[in-house]
Amino acid sequence: MSTRMNNKVVLVTGASRGIGRDVALAFASHGAKLVLAARSTQRLAQVEKEIHDRGAEALSVPTDVTSQASVQAMVDAAMHRFGRIDVLVNNAGVAKVGVIESATFHDDVSHTLEASVFGMIRVTQQVLPILRRQGSGSIVNMSSVMGRKAFARFGSYAIVMHAVSAFSDALRQEVAGSGIRVSVIHPALTATDLLRDVDEAQMPLAFRHMTPLRSEDVGRAVVTAVRRGTPRVVMPRVANMLLLGEALSPRIGDLIAHALSLRPVARLLGISRGTTYHQAIARRQDDAQIHSISGESTSQVTVGTG
Ligand SMILES: NC(=O)c1ccc[n+]([C@@H]2O[C@H](COP(=O)([O-])OP(=O)(O)OC[C@H]3O[C@@H](n4cnc5c(N)ncnc54)[C@H](OP(=O)(O)O)[C@@H]3O)[C@@H](O)[C@H]2O)c1
Repeated sequence: MSTRMNNKVVLVTGASRGIGRDVALAFASHGAKLVLAARSTQRLAQVEKEIHDRGAEALSVPTDVTSQASVQAMVDAAMHRFGRIDVLVNNAGVAKVGVIESATFHDDVSHTLEASVFGMIRVTQQVLPILRRQGSGSIVNMSSVMGRKAFARFGSYAIVMHAVSAFSDALRQEVAGSGIRVSVIHPALTATDLLRDVDEAQMPLAFRHMTPLRSEDVGRAVVTAVRRGTPRVVMPRVANMLLLGEALSPRIGDLIAHALSLRPVARLLGISRGTTYHQAIARRQDDAQIHSISGESTSQVTVGTG
């Protein structure tokens, strides 16, 4: 167990499942104390129990990041229990899929912005004065590869993820020299419930045969980013090729995105290794059913991505 995270207090939003849960578990396995925030009380309690079972401390605080009062109460509860916050992971978020011409596009952007961006701003503004008083701390913001390169039908999500990226960029410069470090994480498609209800046909071609990242790996990458103070993490690394192409010219970015939609190219780059996102999610649902029939907790089930 690393000593660098021992007794550090880590606040994770969206900790009730998916990436947030695995971020929390990864910090717990490094000896950190966790503050777990999300809306669903029951799932948070399950994650809290998983952390206690690993011998670490955790406080779950049911929180809606779209409410200022709820965020303030959560940060107050964290300070009351632990007296400090060392790491804030802004991870809570939602996603909507649909073309820009769809009647719901405006509402989709607005809904996603409220949870993923204004939520992040609310929590950061509550926590930042605490980090400044301490003269140290880390803030990690969860963006996406879509936070640097949009894909068709993911316009609302990409707008919001770009905003998370820009916020992180500005914040990193504003806190420079204060002892506070800022990281932004850009994972590619990850095997969580985020897009579970999206029809496979709605996914960009490249995503349909892509093997998703495992949320456990994203969780570990967040811990490493905090320990090293890495300002930006792109997962998998090969996605940097797309982002570099996009930075040079949107035409090159689009060409690379198109190339990724060709299965042989995706295989060659190691991003299509058999199990797709929808297969991974379906497999997890099957596993959850088996576990619930046999009376085991479904919260322990993780996605195997092949
Ligand atoms: N999955 C991917 O492909 C992928 C890729 C790159 C980046 N990301 C980003 O990673 C983050 C986590 O997503 P995920 O994939 O783990 O999705 P997920 O499994 O759907 O988890 C989303 C989490 O956010 C919480 N949340 C949503 N709205 C909230 C609100 N108003 N207040 C408090 N908590 C809220 C949810 O908990 P409750 O419902 O209990 O509130 C849940 O814990 C998101 O920001 C997402 O954009 C995901």
